[in-house]
Amino acid sequence: MNVQLVPFLMACLLSTVCSEGSVDFCYNFPECNATTWPTIAPHHCNGTRQSPINIVTADVKADGNLTAFSFTGFNDNSTLLNIQNTGKSVKILLDDQKMSVSGGGLQNTYNSKEFHFHWGNGSSFSGSEHTVDGRQYAMEMHIVNIRADVSVASADESTAYAVLGFFIEATNDSGKPESWKNLTSFLSTIPKEGDSRDIMYQLTVDSLLQGVDRTKYYRYLGSLTTPTCNEIVVWTVFKDPVKVSKDLIDLFSNTVHINTTADPFITNNHRVLQALNGRVVTSQPTSSASTHHLTLSISTALLYYVFFWCL
Ligand SMILES: *[C@@H]1O[C@H](CO)[C@@H](O)[C@H](O)[C@H]1NC(C)=O
Ligand SMILES: *[C@@H]1O[C@H](CO)[C@@H](O)[C@H](O)[C@H]1NC(C)=O
Ligand SMILES: *[C@@H]1O[C@H](CO)[C@@H](O)[C@H](O)[C@H]1NC(C)=O
Ligand SMILES: *[C@@H]1O[C@H](CO)[C@@H](O)[C@H](O)[C@H]1NC(C)=O
Ligand SMILES: *[C@@H]1O[C@H](CO)[C@@H](O)[C@H](O)[C@H]1NC(C)=O
Ligand SMILES: *[C@@H]1O[C@H](CO)[C@@H](O)[C@H](O)[C@H]1NC(C)=O
Ligand SMILES: *[C@@H]1O[C@H](CO)[C@@H](O)[C@H](O)[C@H]1NC(C)=O
Ligand SMILES: *[C@@H]1O[C@H](CO)[C@@H](O)[C@H](O)[C@H]1NC(C)=O
Ligand SMILES: [Zn+2]
Repeated sequence: MNVQLVPFLMACLLSTVCSEGSVDFCYNFPECNATTWPTIAPHHCNGTRQSPINIVTADVKADGNLTAFSFTGFNDNSTLLNIQNTGKSVKILLDDQKMSVSGGGLQNTYNSKEFHFHWGNGSSFSGSEHTVDGRQYAMEMHIVNIRADVSVASADESTAYAVLGFFIEATNDSGKPESWKNLTSFLSTIPKEGDSRDIMYQLTVDSLLQGVDRTKYYRYLGSLTTPTCNEIVVWTVFKDPVKVSKDLIDLFSNTVHINTTADPFITNNHRVLQALNGRVVTSQPTSSASTHHLTLSISTALLYYVFFWCL
């Protein structure tokens, strides 16, 4: 058990708000940015299984264990508790008594704690954290889930969190989809760091994820993407993006501030890509691979048939 992790996990368990990382950090100041993170959390941000990464599709390995997820409470409008300006992001606190994730090749059930976003500067400066073959999307949404049994002392910390990553792709529509229009309408109520607004009964997590085939995803082992960058995350990055109109994406970078309204807006709150260091990204076997498999077994069967018939 990583001793450094104990206070971190304790802090998470004791507070209902388990932030991604627990130290103060920044993104865009000359004297304080991602290059200085390793000095605030030396043994994690400088590690060898860090996130985010660029996913090279040609190197992705097939894994038949990556089956469908089971999502609990994602269709329930009472599970989103409040929306907060953390000064680093916009975070929606979830009711982890009612929301959880299992299946999807995960070994345990994970309770859903919160989701938050990473963005660039408006829809024209992309800000997703993960990229696919070098492609960066407008935004990325992270649903943070913590293993239900993680308070057990012997728990293996390397899979303590399961984060679900969704790419957000900008469209030329306006005010679409309705669920995102609804969610972003609350941004003007949380302009300052620490502001929080109740959003119970307004929308469901499912409604924010429409258009995504949640059986198609990438899987790898990585870290939190903010200090203290703990290497405790089973990452799931879904292939399909959620499509959101530009005007709504723009609201993230022109409504919420890093501290007071006199301070800058939160922009470019995404970490730079991290080295893969030999890690393997997996995904579902592609249908062409299984078709190939099927063709092979049919021809094998035929061959046997012909062979025995000749006898
Ligand atoms: C990030 O911080 C480092 C160290 O203080 C500094 O040298 C660098 O210029 C900063 N980068 C940006 C983009 O501000
Ligand atoms: C990060 O790790 C490298 C290689 O292990 C080491 O040289 C460097 O000093 C470390 N930096 C910090 C800030 O810990
Ligand atoms: C699939 O799961 C089984 C049982 O847990 C395991 O033995 C096997 O290595 C897994 N396959 C891959 C490709 O990870
Ligand atoms: C919330 O969900 C409940 C149960 O499905 C439904 O009756 C109610 O109308 C929903 N509330 C809103 C504001 O949509
Ligand atoms: C973000 O974009 C706006 C205009 O689109 C610009 O005024 C502002 O300086 C940009 N901010 C950053 C941090 O690049
Ligand atoms: C959106 O509009 C821009 C500028 O008008 C255009 O270049 C782009 O192709 C459009 N995108 C889509 C998906 O229609
Ligand atoms: C958000 O959706 C809820 C439930 O349908 C509705 O009562 C509320 O008026 C909507 N808010 C906005 C700003 O669209
Ligand atoms: C945020 O603003 C408050 C009020 O001006 C100030 O006291 C505080 O030091 C600021 N925090 C940061 C991190 O700059
Ligand atoms: Zn995140």
